[in-house]
Amino acid sequence: MPECATAPETALPCIEAGVPALVLAPMEGVTDGPMRALMSEIGGFSFCVTEFVRVAQTIPGPRVFRDHIPEITDGFRTRAGLPVQVQLLGGDPDRLAQAARVAVQAGAQALDLNFGCPARTVNRHDGGALLLQHPDRIRAIVSAVRAALPGEVPVSAKLRLGWDNASAIHVNAERAAEGGAAWLTIHARTKCQGYRPPAYWKPIGEVRQRLGIPIVANGEIWTVADIRRCRDETGCQHFMLGRGALASPTLARAAARELGIRGAAPTRTFGRTPAEWLPLLRRFIDISAAVVDSPAYTAARIKQWLRMANHDGGMAWADSLMRRQSLQGLLDHLGALAATDGGDVEQQPRQDAPTPVACPAIL
Ligand SMILES: Cc1cc2nc3c(=O)[nH]c(=O)nc-3n(C[C@H](O)[C@H](O)[C@H](O)COP(=O)(O)O)c2cc1C
Repeated sequence: MPECATAPETALPCIEAGVPALVLAPMEGVTDGPMRALMSEIGGFSFCVTEFVRVAQTIPGPRVFRDHIPEITDGFRTRAGLPVQVQLLGGDPDRLAQAARVAVQAGAQALDLNFGCPARTVNRHDGGALLLQHPDRIRAIVSAVRAALPGEVPVSAKLRLGWDNASAIHVNAERAAEGGAAWLTIHARTKCQGYRPPAYWKPIGEVRQRLGIPIVANGEIWTVADIRRCRDETGCQHFMLGRGALASPTLARAAARELGIRGAAPTRTFGRTPAEWLPLLRRFIDISAAVVDSPAYTAARIKQWLRMANHDGGMAWADSLMRRQSLQGLLDHLGALAATDGGDVEQQPRQDAPTPVACPAIL
């Protein structure tokens, strides 16, 4: 098991037994470079995980990693210094091992393997949650990647409870551990349960008790009270936050205090008003502008984010922003909402001139 330094300047993207940690979840198309940068500025996380890099027929070269992971130029850290772990997805042990080597040669300090993605196209091409039906293949993949890398580079695995049967987690987790995973992250749902609540945390605790490696609990944590309940139910000290961290941008800071993570700064509850969100979105736009040359793409990302934040209908004002096409139109409207405290800004629905959403160019 590799040693994890805990001083911020030398911290690794690593889970260590007995040291509580909070991980920002990989979310394809959501927690990309700009979002990781923003979340790490706000604080609370111990490290973050990239969206998956897919390893199919060809081995991704250094350029693929550079395009996918802007933090590569800063030693796999966000500008605010948060360590970034690289996630790979695929079904072929040898190709994954080769891809992992490329990532490590480019400077990656830790690798994660995706055994949870439920997307049909991914599963049809022998990747993600499909592997949950083949425990021996999980072991072979983890073991091949482990063997390909220097001992100090940890390899972890991210699993769902199973494909359609939650009890599969026991054999799958065991095989991943046998393959040499340094820790496991378990999303508390099967593939067939998708992202629908509830999450089933109990099996995570059972796996934690049976296996001798750290377990990161994940799924349906939206508040500090959820973290407490999840900790009570699983006995875990390590948690991964996905949608909840985006819906409540100071959740990670509050959770870090709750978990007693070293250096956790005090925080206040983030409000759900336009006035609270306006400066945050402005900052996101500034960060995005440095790496993504498409304001339309950034506008689409903001809408996606606000839909996630409004998952419980508690930010009804966000609905009116969905009609704004341009980034400037969206900002102007949010500014007007902030000035009127979320009240009606105008009665006539207004459509900005539609701007085609181009594929973002990562500079
Ligand atoms: C839009 C979206 C994209 C995701 N992409 C990934 C991914 O690239 N890799 C991965 O391991 N999990 C991915 N996940 C799963 C999350 O990492 C996490 O396990 C899941 O959202 C449950 O956690 P939460 O309830 O805190 O959101 C994704 C989830 C969502 C909603």
